[in-house]
Amino acid sequence: MQNFSYKNPTEILFGKGMIAELATRVPAKTPVLLLYGGGSIKRNGVYDQVKAALKKHRRVEFGGIEANPLFETCLKAVALVKQAKIKFILAVGGGSVLDAAKFIAAAAVFKGRDSWEILRTHGGCVTAALPVGTVLTLPATGSEANGNSVISRAATQEKLHFTSALAFPVFSVLDPVTTFSLPKKFVRNGLVDAFVHTMEQYMTFPSAAPLQDRLSESVLQTLIEVAPVTLAKPRNYEARASFMWSATLALNTLIGCGVPQDWATHMIGHELTAFYGLDHAETLAIVMPGVWQHKFAAKRAKLEQYGQRVWGVKNARAAIARTEKFFHAIGMPTRLGDYGIDAKEAAAKVATRFAEHGYAFGEHGDINAAAAAAILLQRA
Ligand code: NZQ
Ligand code: ZN
Repeated sequence: MQNFSYKNPTEILFGKGMIAELATRVPAKTPVLLLYGGGSIKRNGVYDQVKAALKKHRRVEFGGIEANPLFETCLKAVALVKQAKIKFILAVGGGSVLDAAKFIAAAAVFKGRDSWEILRTHGGCVTAALPVGTVLTLPATGSEANGNSVISRAATQEKLHFTSALAFPVFSVLDPVTTFSLPKKFVRNGLVDAFVHTMEQYMTFPSAAPLQDRLSESVLQTLIEVAPVTLAKPRNYEARASFMWSATLALNTLIGCGVPQDWATHMIGHELTAFYGLDHAETLAIVMPGVWQHKFAAKRAKLEQYGQRVWGVKNARAAIARTEKFFHAIGMPTRLGDYGIDAKEAAAKVATRFAEHGYAFGEHGDINAAAAAAILLQRA
């Protein structure tokens, strides 16, 4: 096991009716920014519950955060935060709203001239941020319990992330009932995103971290078990609760302690979203099997362990095939061609971006521009 430091300061308020806890968790003396997306919270009753819990608070609202939140939209919210002297941001929605809140919280107190620096430096220049609380309505990203945020810039077709210890939410409300209204597509996306987050921290090489391995395998097994139930029966509370908690554990930084990490799938995937507008999880299901094929020799021991423990199959190739079959079974395509995207063009575009950023990901730091192109070429 490698050395690590672990601190997760986010208070999790999990379960039915927990939105009412906002009344005591959100500071009452200063105005609060209630940040939300395209309106799902107004249709499923979540907005009314939040309003009821905050009836004694001064609230300023900003709606319209889009999926894959835009820098351009966030800047409008930053202006509102400054003008209304907001000291606390409450994000209510999916990962996009939560990520936007984290960025707005850092940008509102950023001392530099251009807050894009926060993303360009991947959080290196963040020295302060307003506190953020969240009500999560879509299990997927783990944003509710980590210090990450991913922001897109329409003008330049860029999608960059930042990470900061200052961006962890102070608290997050996770009420599985709020997710009953999710369309199947977003449930499928959430299952795949959580699955791939686990893999980014697990599918590398053996590192004498047996507990970490088994924690990851438990998350994978739970996701596989609940996936068909939660897709078929959206109002099955127990299945949704297990899904929601699995997604949080997949990226609340615990399973990644002391182990090598990959993240090449995510970084290639972000570029595919930036260029082609695919949903985040759609990109991951295309790229991950390609990363595994490309790094087959280096990942073989872990692929075999995963295959045996999670799927009961003997060899590494069968483990890859079984994973793609799982994605297909929950309605997730795994090829660029499924979206009419030309693999050669995608490979060239993504490679150019990787070269511009000087990216090199993967547990061996060797998924560079050429490797990213090779991976995408086999995903036609
Ligand atoms: O905007 P509204 O109207 O709220 O609708 C949303 C949106 O259209 C809808 N939705 C959310 N909760 C709902 C609901 N519809 C009905 N009922 C509900 N309960 O779902 C749509 C998608 O929401 P979004 O927040 O975009 O999805 P997700 O949670 O998958 O977030 C994706 C974003 O997170 C980033 C991705 O790159 C992408 O930008 N990620 C963030 C990470 C992090 N912070 O650690 C890690 C991830 O790897 C990922 O990169
Ligand atoms: Zn993800």
